[in-house]
Amino acid sequence: MRPTLVVRNARLAPMTGPQAAAGDGPLGLLERGAVAITGERLSFVGPEAALDALLDSGQVARTFETLDASGLLVTPGLVDCHTHLLFAGDRAREHAQRLSGASYLEIAAQGGGIRATVRAFGEASDDDLLAGARERLSRMVRAGVTTVEVKSGYGLSVAQELRALRLLRALGVDAGCEVVPTLLALHAVPEGTPREAWLHAVLHELLPEAARCGLARGIDAFCEQGAFTLSECRVVLEAGLALGLTGHLHADQLSDGQGAALAAGLGCASADHLERTTKDGADALASAGTVAVLLPLAAWFLRESSPAQARLFLSRGATVALASNLNPGSQRLEGTSLVLAAGGLLSGLTPAQALSAMTRGGAQALRLPDRGRLETGLRADLVVWDSPGADHLAYHGGVEHARVVLSGGRVVSDLRDGPRLHCG
Ligand code: NIG
Repeated sequence: MRPTLVVRNARLAPMTGPQAAAGDGPLGLLERGAVAITGERLSFVGPEAALDALLDSGQVARTFETLDASGLLVTPGLVDCHTHLLFAGDRAREHAQRLSGASYLEIAAQGGGIRATVRAFGEASDDDLLAGARERLSRMVRAGVTTVEVKSGYGLSVAQELRALRLLRALGVDAGCEVVPTLLALHAVPEGTPREAWLHAVLHELLPEAARCGLARGIDAFCEQGAFTLSECRVVLEAGLALGLTGHLHADQLSDGQGAALAAGLGCASADHLERTTKDGADALASAGTVAVLLPLAAWFLRESSPAQARLFLSRGATVALASNLNPGSQRLEGTSLVLAAGGLLSGLTPAQALSAMTRGGAQALRLPDRGRLETGLRADLVVWDSPGADHLAYHGGVEHARVVLSGGRVVSDLRDGPRLHCG
């Protein structure tokens, strides 16, 4: 073994414990742990004493740099598995309208909502779109995110959707974070285009071209009254799955449209939102191995009275992921600490479950088995937190707790010289 970097003196949370467990159970805690990194991968994860024994035996070359974690919590890098962070313009006026009583669907029906961002997207230059997305992404990286899924869906023409996917490819270059692009093919019906014509264009032009050029990893649709029907979503998801894309579905957000059951039945990797999902829908997700992605900040932002409850899914054996859903309309709050806090306050996850949902759960929702846990052979994406345990991360919200962030074995954020948060 020839490590390039060794992280010592860590309170290691490899996220190998059962997600539904109480207390720190999901973390799989290892006191006084160490990891060794060789290139982009973890080459050792275990007790520091075991690593020292290997070093003493001469089986490990002493050519590495050392990072002393000072007894702080070390976890896998966070996986934010549901965002729409490539956008232009803002919808602050709509937010104010909602706070005055208008609903998300009423605003959309008046030409606002997703279509407002579509107009701004079409008018923005590539440089402006990328600059905005890079800023948002760099804040996420500093907050511990090492993998982010980003959806298209603000293009709403074949050319503009392909442009969005190409911009996502550019966004991922040297980002310090892997960008996973999803084609959100059914987000809204484009203005002035008959519904049938858009569905035809998606099936016969957009999807094949996106797949042919390798521009998307996932396929997604918005299954909702006022958006797309179950059968429309089914047809598009089936076509995407047949092209080898990973399936996701915006399901049961504003009404119970049986979206969870559809996502499960099709073998999608995730069903997202799920505010109105019933027990049957949760059972379907559990038996299909489809991850329940909870987006509590969106429920809060839209002043939904009943955010999705983790217990409904965990008690049935489904895996839960927690994500930001950062977008200009239904969720414009930024910050990992807010997502973790909302996972607890609104969705009922314990702090350790929230961390598990944003690491292991997120990786599973994206079907990325090489991350989300700290295990030998997996990607060396990890975070040293300014806290010895998980509790503070979900408790002391509004400030970011990540001190050092590594992506693919490379330090992409190092705030060790910054002020401390005095946790624990
Ligand atoms: O996940 N629900 C649909 N899509 C986004 C909202 C996008 C928007 O309003 O711009 C969501 O909440």
